Amino acid sequence: MKNFKRYTVTTALPYANGPLHIGHIAGVYVPADIYVRYLRAAGKDVLFIGGSDEHGVPITIKARKEGVSPQDIVDKYHNIIKNTFTRLGISFDIYSRTSLPVHHKTASDFFRTLYDKGKFIEKTTAQYYDEEAGQFLADRYITGTCPHCGNEKAYGDQCESCGTSLNATDLINPRSVLSGHPPVMKDTKHWFLPLDTYEPWLRQWILEEHKEWKPNVYGQCKSWLDQGLQPRAVTRDLDWGVKVPLEGTDGKVLYVWFDAPIGYISASKDWSEQTGKDWTPYWKDNESKLVHFIGKDNIVFHCIIFPAMLHAEGSFIVPENVPANEFLNLEGDKISTSRNWAVWVHEYLDELPGREDVLRYVLTANAPETKDNDFTWKDFQARNNNELLAIFGNFVNRTLVLTHKYFGGKVPAITTLTPEDKATLDELAALPGKIANHIENYRFRDGLTEMMNMARLGNKYLTENEPWKIFATQPERVQTVINISLQIAANLSIVAAPFIPFTADKMTNMLNLGPFTWADAGRNNLLPDNHPLNPPAFLFTKVEDDIIQSQIDKLHKAKAENVFKNASVAPIKDDITYEDFTRLDLRTGTIITAEKVAKTKKLLKLTIDTGIDKRTVVSGIAEYYTPEEVIGKQVCVVANLAPRNIKGVDSKGMILMAEDADGKLVFVSPAVNTINGATVK
Ligand code: MF3
Ligand code: ZN
Repeated sequence: MKNFKRYTVTTALPYANGPLHIGHIAGVYVPADIYVRYLRAAGKDVLFIGGSDEHGVPITIKARKEGVSPQDIVDKYHNIIKNTFTRLGISFDIYSRTSLPVHHKTASDFFRTLYDKGKFIEKTTAQYYDEEAGQFLADRYITGTCPHCGNEKAYGDQCESCGTSLNATDLINPRSVLSGHPPVMKDTKHWFLPLDTYEPWLRQWILEEHKEWKPNVYGQCKSWLDQGLQPRAVTRDLDWGVKVPLEGTDGKVLYVWFDAPIGYISASKDWSEQTGKDWTPYWKDNESKLVHFIGKDNIVFHCIIFPAMLHAEGSFIVPENVPANEFLNLEGDKISTSRNWAVWVHEYLDELPGREDVLRYVLTANAPETKDNDFTWKDFQARNNNELLAIFGNFVNRTLVLTHKYFGGKVPAITTLTPEDKATLDELAALPGKIANHIENYRFRDGLTEMMNMARLGNKYLTENEPWKIFATQPERVQTVINISLQIAANLSIVAAPFIPFTADKMTNMLNLGPFTWADAGRNNLLPDNHPLNPPAFLFTKVEDDIIQSQIDKLHKAKAENVFKNASVAPIKDDITYEDFTRLDLRTGTIITAEKVAKTKKLLKLTIDTGIDKRTVVSGIAEYYTPEEVIGKQVCVVANLAPRNIKGVDSKGMILMAEDADGKLVFVSPAVNTINGATVK
């Protein structure tokens, strides 16, 4: 493998329109931080870059909704996000932001360079325009009826009801979000990067020269390349973003996905301004290794578009690797900001103070490296109590307590080594290399496992030697056992540092020596004889059931409240008289058979025993219930509804259903079973 002189490590710039959740952290920032902390410990020259992505349409929409400026929105979230990273120990050299002048200038110059080199094509296309607002409309600014499912509130880029991605021109009855009126088509000029031109270069560079990329990343790139690349617009009609640096382009900005990755470069310049160090070698010397940490939704931008931009510009290096992760789920369900199904990291830090490393540990242990993975609070508890506390913390604590008890807190000298001692030290010596290899190859979970194996090694060694039992009779043997245990603990403080840095710091304090470098790891004489230690403190404490339960409750409550907040509860209809009501014949009945109606998605054909007759009712509940689930269920039936033919089936009556908080249909049934045919009144 090529030996690099320095490392440029970037992390996807989070949109500054909301706080961070555990999915962001698990997929991008914790792995990047492990990588960087390891590299620094190994004496490498690293520039670790982060920052907020402060442009793009969602930010302008949020600002509009809240009646504030886009700058207000990004100021607020930039600070929350930046603070969260600091508290979690994400050790950026710079956490910058794309609304800074240095970024506007950098992105603008970058565009201008490509423009002057003739790297763009100009195209005029017709786009939706709101005549009243005097503005072109981004896809998100247009709503209308989804051509696939009939949802009347679909957006110009996506229907949230059926999940289909759309073009604004697909919508039936399009309307502008700004004025509420139908938009018109109007010509507008934009600049496109002809990605197709870079296809041969990209194929060679990725498919031939980077076969070592993670299979998920390589596979996505290959499929993009095999489908053939198209020219991509790099400008938009919008008033929030980096202005297009050309004459006569008022109201046009760079597309957010054009300016955001340039943000990595701007952040590096920001770092230069703050530290007086030179940013250029990190981006322009091909002995620098550029690595982008991202989530899987960002792959095309970091593996295809941004490299094509860098290549077109000509003076920059391109990434050596893009170790993108899959997604983290939460309690078996997709994390979703709009459904408020998330663990927000700043809230975690407030509510579980002092447990930063537990979150880092659990997210690494469950990192979605090769497939989507799941975070559950029960697993969080188990990993804290059974791994961090019972293995790691217990080993370090026992070792220190025994040293204080038997040797006045000073490192005892080794007397003689048994073959078992030597075997233990050999195992110890082998682990740092394994961990380093995993980290260098972006296998952070495996690295973490080997780190824990070092703690296991120590625990096992103590348990096998039982120094507390033999001190009275063999104090010299105990000297050796404690010395070796302490050397393992000191080694552990080195290899744990990239993963759980707060804990490693505490260990360094207790051991009263260090921090050591990675090159020291594996040595059996890190702590010299007679070296005085500080008193032991607990590294981890038990996570009790009530903490877990309150987090689980909070999750469900937040989701439910959010759904109620977003639910469109229909207004009450016009009054009817009591006589009107009595014309309805509502009865209890029991579903006795159920089957799907052929060629439909939503319909079940039910036979209902109404106590008076057994009749067929077609009901639109098949998306929520299988036939097996509903058979035997007692329900309320509108018994005197005139018969209707639904998809070829004669249906008499209907059953009463209500929407739950998630929009799922639930039965409106008697609270306790009763006879069939009872009048509902
Ligand atoms: N803001 C984007 C997202 O959250 C990521 C931008 S990464 C960068 O998906 F390369 F553009 F900076
Ligand atoms: Zn739809």
